[in-house]
Amino acid sequence: MVGSKAWNWDIVKGDHERYWQEPATESYYLINRWLTQDKKDFLDLGCGLGRHTIQFAKAGFNTSGFDLSETSIERTKEYAKQAGVEVDLRVGDMLDLPYDSDGFDCIYCRNVISHTDTAGMRKIVAELKRILRKDGECYLTLGSKQSWGFQQDWPAVDENTKIRVEDGPENGIPHFYADYDLIVDLFKDFEIVKVFQVEEYITKERVTSSLHYHVLIRK
Ligand SMILES: C[S@@+](CC[C@H](N)C(=O)[O-])C[C@H]1O[C@@H](n2cnc3c(N)ncnc32)[C@H](O)[C@@H]1O
Repeated sequence: MVGSKAWNWDIVKGDHERYWQEPATESYYLINRWLTQDKKDFLDLGCGLGRHTIQFAKAGFNTSGFDLSETSIERTKEYAKQAGVEVDLRVGDMLDLPYDSDGFDCIYCRNVISHTDTAGMRKIVAELKRILRKDGECYLTLGSKQSWGFQQDWPAVDENTKIRVEDGPENGIPHFYADYDLIVDLFKDFEIVKVFQVEEYITKERVTSSLHYHVLIRK
């Protein structure tokens, strides 16, 4: 299994930093969905700068945030303090989660669990199943094999995984890419509630866009 590597959040500044501080579109849908389902214990897996950690805590969830990057957890701590919310924050590797079995009602991992190879992905999927309660839901995103990244001549780890080689916070980080059939196979032990592919244009200057599968699964 390829080694894990955190994002380098220290170099994320200006507009790029602001992008990662504003909650993603589907987060509002998830809050509404999971409050309606009376879900309470929420994990923001790979929380980054904590945009969803804080948002879900403010919405009333018992919230935990987790990331491999110490900077990420420090920044989320600061952000939580400013927002006046109590959250449980931990540094660690998603390949080995420090949480009890059946501990969460809902988990959000946006652009996180792709940061491994195929063997790592299968391990994380098993961890998600372990820490979710029965009927618990997880919303996650996975890079698409149709995306620009998968076409790049970056070092391949296995048939689904490349190591990103470019300047920026993701340099040297593994990226796993999926297609629909692979998603159906990966999540065969869950109910797959929704799958869709979203193309997101991050800045006006960028000629490329990011293309991700968004997947909602239920245990
Ligand atoms: C693209 S950022 C997304 C952050 C956040 N989910 C959001 O939407 O704002 C990916 C995050 O995953 C974290 N990450 C990467 N590999 C990880 C691992 N093995 N265990 C835990 N976190 C990891 C990175 O450090 C980074 O903060």
